[in-house]
Amino acid sequence: MKRLRLAIVGCGAIADWHVNAIDVALERTDIVACVDPNPDRAAAFATRTGGAACSSIADAIAIGIDAVAIMVPHHLHEPLALEAFAAGLHVLLEKPMATMPDACERILAAAPTDRVFMLAENAQYWPEVLLAQQLLADGAIGDLITARAWHCFPPMGDFYAGDDPWRMSLAAAGGGIAMDAGSHWLRPLRMWCGELVEVVAVTGRPFPGMEGESMCRALCRFDSGVVASFDALLVPGGVSDLPLFQLTGTKGEIVIEGIGRVRHFDGSEWRGTVVGQGNYLQSYEGEWRDFEAAVLDGTPLAASARDALGELYGALAMYRSAASKQWEPVWV
Ligand SMILES: NC(=O)c1ccc[n+]([C@@H]2O[C@H](COP(=O)([O-])OP(=O)(O)OC[C@H]3O[C@@H](n4cnc5c(N)ncnc54)[C@H](O)[C@@H]3O)[C@@H](O)[C@H]2O)c1
Repeated sequence: MKRLRLAIVGCGAIADWHVNAIDVALERTDIVACVDPNPDRAAAFATRTGGAACSSIADAIAIGIDAVAIMVPHHLHEPLALEAFAAGLHVLLEKPMATMPDACERILAAAPTDRVFMLAENAQYWPEVLLAQQLLADGAIGDLITARAWHCFPPMGDFYAGDDPWRMSLAAAGGGIAMDAGSHWLRPLRMWCGELVEVVAVTGRPFPGMEGESMCRALCRFDSGVVASFDALLVPGGVSDLPLFQLTGTKGEIVIEGIGRVRHFDGSEWRGTVVGQGNYLQSYEGEWRDFEAAVLDGTPLAASARDALGELYGALAMYRSAASKQWEPVWV
């Protein structure tokens, strides 16, 4: 296969970001179908990409596709992924794989071994996160003592409003901010600290109308022994620009700022030294390069789909902990 014929499945908010990333990053992929039961959305994406507007995956298969990018509300992940696997397609599936472990296992079991299955956790490709990982490996801050992850944003209209605000519904979303966008802050913690083993958390609902939690404050213990804090918060008012991540080691600190700056603190300069400048949106570009190469060149993905269960199990353990008021093991 010289070029990849891709169908976008779900022409909503994140599909817009993905198409931007595909435009920038990929040279061997053609978007040939844009699938959405909402004809206006399918038509808008078709006009933009040059693909055909379709109302179902079956319609896209009839056109001739190699792969699908599934970007639909959480409760639809399992049926659409199973449909794509049954058709022998390569699949990029948005996070979380599903909202319950048994559904994830059904999806993993259905994935053909000779096809690429990427679980789209873009934080795996976030440039600032990768730089911090390299600095850690190079010993820039010595041994990691602790880390702090801070995801605090106002609810963006594209994701929380619109004609189908499914994130406000527990039946469709399966959880709140920890399970949803929180995954992009949990994956970096797992990349730096090791595997997540237990958590203690409190949750709250400061965002009116959202059934799942819009606040989750947790301590996370990793198999390295490191304990990190994880905060995820949706607040309707303004928010300050606290760093997104802070890693504290025996010889210094690494800080990742919201504007993409990475600072290294080694005690020589009180404001630290800027050692890199990234951009969250570039994480999607890296993700797509990895997917395209995996399909066309057979290269291994940076992370397996099963790796992404860590963020889901972590969020579910936080929910159990908020109810039990105890530390909860992650892998149950
Ligand atoms: N990686 C990230 O940074 C990131 C960010 C936001 C959302 N997401 C994930 O992307 C997915 C979609 O989120 P969103 O914010 O774009 O939602 P959205 O509501 O904006 O878009 C979902 C789209 O799916 C369409 N759809 C519904 N049923 C469908 C079907 N059977 N076939 C095809 N399309 C169908 C809807 O009409 C809608 O256009 C979720 O899994 C979410 O967690 C990931």
